Amino acid sequence: MSEKGRRLRSAAWFGRRDKNGFMYRSWMKNQGHPHDLFDGRPVIGICNTWSELTPCNAHFRELAEWVKRGVWEAGGFPLEFPVMSLGESQLRPTAMLFRNLASMDVEESIRGNPIDGVVLLMGCDKTTPSLMMGAASCDLPTIGLSGGPMLSGRYRGRELGSGTGIWQMSEEVRAGRMSMDEFIATESCMHRSKGHCMTMGTASTMASMVEALGMSLPGSAAIPAVDARRNTVAQLTGRRIVEMVKEDLVMSRILTRAAFENAIRANAAIGGSTNAVIHLMALAGRIGVDLKLDDWDRLGSHVSCIVDLQPSGRHLMEDFFYAGGVPAVLRELLGAGLLNAEALTVNGRTIGENVAEAENWNREVIHAYDQPFKPESGIAVLRGNLAPSGAVIKPSAASPHLLTHRGRAVVFSSIEDFRARINDEALEIDETSVMVLQNCGPKGYPGMAEVGNMPLPPKVLRKGITDMVRISDARMSGTAYGTVVLHVSPEAAAGGPLALVRDGDFISLDVPNRTVTLEVPDEELARRRAAWTQPPLPERGWARLYVERVMQASDGADFDFLVGGSGAAVPRDSH
Ligand code: FES
Repeated sequence: MSEKGRRLRSAAWFGRRDKNGFMYRSWMKNQGHPHDLFDGRPVIGICNTWSELTPCNAHFRELAEWVKRGVWEAGGFPLEFPVMSLGESQLRPTAMLFRNLASMDVEESIRGNPIDGVVLLMGCDKTTPSLMMGAASCDLPTIGLSGGPMLSGRYRGRELGSGTGIWQMSEEVRAGRMSMDEFIATESCMHRSKGHCMTMGTASTMASMVEALGMSLPGSAAIPAVDARRNTVAQLTGRRIVEMVKEDLVMSRILTRAAFENAIRANAAIGGSTNAVIHLMALAGRIGVDLKLDDWDRLGSHVSCIVDLQPSGRHLMEDFFYAGGVPAVLRELLGAGLLNAEALTVNGRTIGENVAEAENWNREVIHAYDQPFKPESGIAVLRGNLAPSGAVIKPSAASPHLLTHRGRAVVFSSIEDFRARINDEALEIDETSVMVLQNCGPKGYPGMAEVGNMPLPPKVLRKGITDMVRISDARMSGTAYGTVVLHVSPEAAAGGPLALVRDGDFISLDVPNRTVTLEVPDEELARRRAAWTQPPLPERGWARLYVERVMQASDGADFDFLVGGSGAAVPRDSH
């Protein structure tokens, strides 16, 4: 029994003096667990995304041992279990295709096992939302622990950020300003320690979101993976989850509407990834918080970016940690009246209490709110006849002169079509064109690839041009940048107007007024629509289920049948 008198769910397995209790305990004892561990103490599941195919999470077996120390110290019984690990850098066709699958693995692994509380070990991009989503559908006491970012990359005195440096240097190679040999030589300089991408890409953004939501210990998101304090916070996380079980501090008490509002504003303040929009929308759906795409614009677009980190700025996560990390940012938001201070967090205190004393040690990295790095630069949500259900753009990563632009469309029907033609010198395109990519949304790719930041044509690059307006139903790596309109909904493969764009059509982008418009008469669009045919469904397997059941990006790209939760009631016993 817990201190509140609530029977722990693990007691339904281990707390029985009968044949079934024998079976549950006896098989566990083959690992050497003594009998008194089954005396009713909280059983803590450590949900591990370790995999050597997920290099960002390859240190997680060691990290789990530090969590276990804390669980033992607090009187709990830690049991580590693996779930599907999604490595952004290796997994084809895109890790996003499997986010919902991994979330189902997490949800059923938690619910089906004798677990009273959960620690989620998360790092690489999709490992964070998949674990948070799956755990939310169970709603046990849960605490997040990120694996931490890599140390800063450095090459010949130049800072090399994960992803961002690749996009920059590959464009230099294509423009003839960098040799392929030198490009290859930078590989080992960019990723030189364990940890996840050390730009403010999706992994660092999502770790920061988990902290801003109140779901991880304060100050934990930015600690480098190799810093001893990463192990310390893992141990403290292990101690705390045992207390959370005793307090019955379940996820839904923390993941409230106020918490999501804090996360949206924090995402703007850190210059976070556009992927956060999709992941937080899906997470809100799981926990029953009514979050709309327009909330991102209403709550976040006027919030200033105060963190000067790549891809929007110069610095890297190591610098962010030394400057004070997420607590320093949240304190700036608190001072500006932009934080719901009363939101509860995993340590049992409010987020306002947690950050009240936070210090900012470097105002070049974390600016004061009244002297922002980039004013009013949260996610902007665009609408218009090209995106009736919405599209997003990250103004902090865009070129200011392109935020209002009108140009002729150059249309690519798939990412393969784009790759086949973009280097063709005969392609009719210049820097005033609007590059349009179709069929890369959730259903179209399928899985919604991170290809929205299409590389520019070489003949434009040679003029020294580094940005053009690009529009697609795809996503973009959180490490990427540019004037890139993403997540156009409905997507082309679902019959959205994006499918109807043709070469030469004029498109006008007006970010200040939040519109993206295809300047084609309705009658002509109707004619094109009549000629449109739906792409064939994948024949079988996961891809088939995915295309049939995935919702649009504007709804978080979760499966329609996964929205909500089923709780953590103990399932039936088949023994
Ligand atoms: Fe894993 Fe970037 S590839 S976080």
